[in-house]
Amino acid sequence: MQKQNKAQEDYILSLEADRWLFYADVLVDKAHVVMLKERGIIKRDEAAAILHSLTKIEERGEDFIEHELPSYEDVHTAIESVLIREIGEEKGGRMHTGRSRNDEVATCIRIALRDELLELIREINELRGVLLEKAAENVDTVMPGYTHLQHAQPTTFAHHFLAHSDAFARDFSRLVSAYEHTNVNPLGAAAFASTGFPLDRERTAKLLGFDSVLENSMDAVSTRDFVIETISCCANLMTNLSRLAEEIILWSTTEFDFVRLPEEYATGSSIMPQKRNPDYAELVRARTGTVFGCLMGVLSICKALPYSYNRDLQEVTPHLLQATKTAIASVVVMKGMVEKLELKKEEMELKAKIGFTTATELADTIVRETGISFRTAHKIVSSLAVHLADENLESEKEQESEKTLVAEILQRIDDSAAHIIGKKLSEMGLTEKKVKEALNIASNIQKRNVKGGPAKKEVLRMLRARRMDLEKDEKSQWAREEHVKRSLEELEREVKKKKKVIKVIKR
Ligand code: ARG
Repeated sequence: MQKQNKAQEDYILSLEADRWLFYADVLVDKAHVVMLKERGIIKRDEAAAILHSLTKIEERGEDFIEHELPSYEDVHTAIESVLIREIGEEKGGRMHTGRSRNDEVATCIRIALRDELLELIREINELRGVLLEKAAENVDTVMPGYTHLQHAQPTTFAHHFLAHSDAFARDFSRLVSAYEHTNVNPLGAAAFASTGFPLDRERTAKLLGFDSVLENSMDAVSTRDFVIETISCCANLMTNLSRLAEEIILWSTTEFDFVRLPEEYATGSSIMPQKRNPDYAELVRARTGTVFGCLMGVLSICKALPYSYNRDLQEVTPHLLQATKTAIASVVVMKGMVEKLELKKEEMELKAKIGFTTATELADTIVRETGISFRTAHKIVSSLAVHLADENLESEKEQESEKTLVAEILQRIDDSAAHIIGKKLSEMGLTEKKVKEALNIASNIQKRNVKGGPAKKEVLRMLRARRMDLEKDEKSQWAREEHVKRSLEELEREVKKKKKVIKVIKR
């Protein structure tokens, strides 16, 4: 096609995504050529010449991308054209036998994405490890738990971080599923209707480390649902990261004062010398929006595309690249930040006592001791809450005043109960001792010992279970990485074997 000007020429390019696909494309070319030779579709010396030239192109790497790529329509055309320039069309022109750029690009994206997914999954597992470690160090660190960002009930930092690590464990399994849908072989589908050449699709799948063949050749070139799935996993992951980032931002404020940001994850102000700003956490929060944008981009591009290939699909790849790179970088940043986060344990514990966070346990105690219904107990306690919300109900230092405080509270409970049910609870079995116990933060936490609760025994059990889960997940991850590695090693051995012919011919 005659191009009118550079702007028009550039319009069709997708350079950054094509850089990303360069190494994958060389692998796809190698596997295809090895298979063509094995099937007798091309001759020995032809395969040898092509593989030799491909190796040289691969070795050029950055240089190839800088010098050759921009002059061609895309990376696939660039590699084939340079190869033909080097070894001539008689041999080089056979590489694309039984293949289309449609199955080629789909295969390349899956290979390049596979590497990103493997890295992302590995990083998520490391983040889970760091969260579990921090939780294990803080089984006894008391903090206020929140609902509506208001003090709600006391909990421990370990319980809180176990919650975050469970969310990332689900991100892990979602991404494994995305990986399984990604790691299948579309090669051999050609334009969409496969080919009359006797290709062996299982063989290229094996050489390229795919788990299986993506069978229907129409589906193989048309679908980008694995891209949508991956970005949607990234969006979910980013939401989890962003919520953690948001908490770290809040916790580092003067108002909360629960944590000290690690030096390397805080920045100063250009004007205010005292500042320690949480810019990294803020950028994780912001880039979550960027990843959502990528998801919306690919959904919109794909939603009305008739089967099979349309050039619109090229526009999907940059979003995938941006979403996965952003997700990986964000996990890495959060991992470092969490690892070095300094907790202000005393401050947390102090704040856990403010805001009448023991009100629920006081109502529960009333139910247990007097036999009235929970709803009625709730009414009685909530009528006290207005006065008690601002007080520290557990001033350990002044034992004497605590005693009077408890007596005073029981009196107020009685007054309120007399008003609401016409009876005093102290006459129905509620004692000062029980009130005191209900108001104690530590016993509040220990009482919440049902499955998944913050009681130490439960937290320790969950820690053990989660560590075992993580170990299992790391093993399965290792197996995935090994499978790909071993397959690509086999591909290289085949390439080497088939390249040897050229030396014999040269002599
Ligand atoms: N660069 C293209 C893409 O990413 C490659 C496929 C081109 N195929 C075609 N029929 N024009 O989708």
